[in-house]
Amino acid sequence: MRLLLDTANLSDIRYFNEYYPIEGVTTNPTILSAEGGNVLELLSEIRAIIGWDKELHVQVTEKDFDRIIEEAIALVSFLGENTYVKIPATDVGLKATKYLSKRGYKITVTAILSEAQGMLAANAGASYVAPYVSRLDNLCADGVGTVKQISDILSFSGQKTQVLAASFKTAKEVLDVAAAGCHCATVGSSVMKNLLSHTTTDTSIARFDSDWKQAFGDVTILSLLNEGKK
Ligand code: G3P
Repeated sequence: MRLLLDTANLSDIRYFNEYYPIEGVTTNPTILSAEGGNVLELLSEIRAIIGWDKELHVQVTEKDFDRIIEEAIALVSFLGENTYVKIPATDVGLKATKYLSKRGYKITVTAILSEAQGMLAANAGASYVAPYVSRLDNLCADGVGTVKQISDILSFSGQKTQVLAASFKTAKEVLDVAAAGCHCATVGSSVMKNLLSHTTTDTSIARFDSDWKQAFGDVTILSLLNEGKK
């Protein structure tokens, strides 16, 4: 399952873009509000860090159809063609998704809380549909189950639309949607770190280092190989 980073924090984006196998960055109005400042400068900086080839998802802030279309087109011309316009799952959102996807724009229909919304968004031509896992769980619904159902519906109907699961509170939820057949997940910084870090990995590395040092001292395999070349 492919991974994107769900933040607009520049130092986090620099770090994860350098070290982790992420394929892009997703934002929403709440995520951008958390950083504050000049939002257009912030989005340009995100684009500069991740480069033109990676995905950048940005949500529309306009509400009526004509303004959403105008905003979406301006956004893509500002941030490049690998920009996914996020549009919430409403009737106006579906109309805008139909209009823009027909004209080649990549749309992520967001704030998906049901299988029916996912199906409608896919039928409207969305590139991604984004179900909110932990927000569903908070409503005593089944976040991972909803992601699985939408993934199944899309694959049974042979649709190109992919599921981009979002709203994760734990690393286990991320693994659970991967095992449920989800195509892609967008994950915040702390959950992303939890996918990798493990105390037993750290203690294992410490043991390798101390065993090596005890037997061979401060040399490394590279230093031995370089020594051999002399
Ligand atoms: O990208 C939006 C989505 O991830 C929302 O997450 O944590 O606000 O429910 P959250």
